[in-house]
Amino acid sequence: MKVRIPRNELKVGMFIERAVLDTSVESFMNVDFIQNVLVDSPEKLEELKSKRIKFLLIDTEKSQKTEPEKQVNNEAAVQKEMPKIEESESVIEEVAEPEPEEPHAEELLDTFDIKEKKKETPDKPLVPFEEELKISRTIKAEAVGNVKKMLQDAAVGKSFETEIAKKHVNEMVKSIFRNKDALLSLTRLKSFDEYTFTHSINVTVLAIALARELGFSRKQVDVIGFGAMLHDVGKMKIPEKILNKPGKLTHEERMEIQKHANYGYELLKERGDIPEVAQLMAYEHHEKADGNGYPCGKTLDLLLPESVLSGVVDVYDALTSARVYKPGMNPPHALTFLKARAEKEFRADYVDKFIEVIGIFPVGSVVEFNTGQIGIVKEINRDNLFRPYVILVMNAKGKKIGAGRIITPSKYESADLKIVRYRDPQDFGIYVSEYLDGDQKII
Ligand SMILES: [Fe+2]
Repeated sequence: MKVRIPRNELKVGMFIERAVLDTSVESFMNVDFIQNVLVDSPEKLEELKSKRIKFLLIDTEKSQKTEPEKQVNNEAAVQKEMPKIEESESVIEEVAEPEPEEPHAEELLDTFDIKEKKKETPDKPLVPFEEELKISRTIKAEAVGNVKKMLQDAAVGKSFETEIAKKHVNEMVKSIFRNKDALLSLTRLKSFDEYTFTHSINVTVLAIALARELGFSRKQVDVIGFGAMLHDVGKMKIPEKILNKPGKLTHEERMEIQKHANYGYELLKERGDIPEVAQLMAYEHHEKADGNGYPCGKTLDLLLPESVLSGVVDVYDALTSARVYKPGMNPPHALTFLKARAEKEFRADYVDKFIEVIGIFPVGSVVEFNTGQIGIVKEINRDNLFRPYVILVMNAKGKKIGAGRIITPSKYESADLKIVRYRDPQDFGIYVSEYLDGDQKII
């Protein structure tokens, strides 16, 4: 069993699975890890205690049995229930493995426990979806190209243009304020080859949309977008063969990948022109509310809210993206995953707001109705996330429908319709973007 213990409870005989040394703001240059070390003598113990250990994970199976009388505060240490750290959750760089079973729509209803509700203040978009979609496609395409160059420059120590990043963030913020669903729908389109760059843009879009809904000020939203765009800049210092390794990472490789949080912080801090909030988002986005994250194992009370927010959207985008070593999880499944960990790893109110922002079936999702009809979600109905506006693209017999018709929220009731599951567009040869531009008939 692996248990996390405070530094002062380290004893002779304990086997250190992993320890993170001081990662405080002042001494981040000295960040390092200790792995697989047996504390085999009092001298070794003294040496380790002299280091400023922030996070200590002990493997009790590999630890030697020590004499009870030699253990200071032994009873207290044994009686104190240490949090169990599951290997799959603690050390996998982005997120744990997808869970085997995908939830059905009926189970989703229980999971999300979302009742029909009326918003006190209707959030009417300033610009129609179709109009904003055209603009947001250009915004995203230009941002991906420039972010790639910016991150690559950062990797080789070149001075990268933060003004360009700010310009893209500003355009994205404006687009989300006009109609958030347009840019959000484009986060469903993921580039397999350019994961780090597309991921950075997707996390930016999702973070901006969530920050806005959580009530952060416009100025704060700008900084959050900027921090989100640069949150993984430290990955540029990790060898690509580790980042994109197909198959399971070794312990050492995971430790190497985890250093990206420190590298990112270091890179941003060195520049001198990056807001501290953005620096800390790079540093803290893999921390968890319960202290089981990295690099410091900080708990929620020590974390910047902006970092917790970026953690939520980072995990969501990582889960829903296909990588060389895993398929992408579908959105309802990924949201179930987040919801199950909301209290422990994030903040429940942030996760709930995030679900409200993107919808259980986000714009662009392919869904199946109880009638067998297939459709594409065109617009989130935030009064009832299970009843979005859907463009019908296939009839119950699996035949494509030429001119898509739209199922409106009221139709669910009158036609006894319900969404039964999320479907992979590749199962039907559907190009989602072709359907989102407009020209559908409301039924
Ligand atoms: Fe990261």
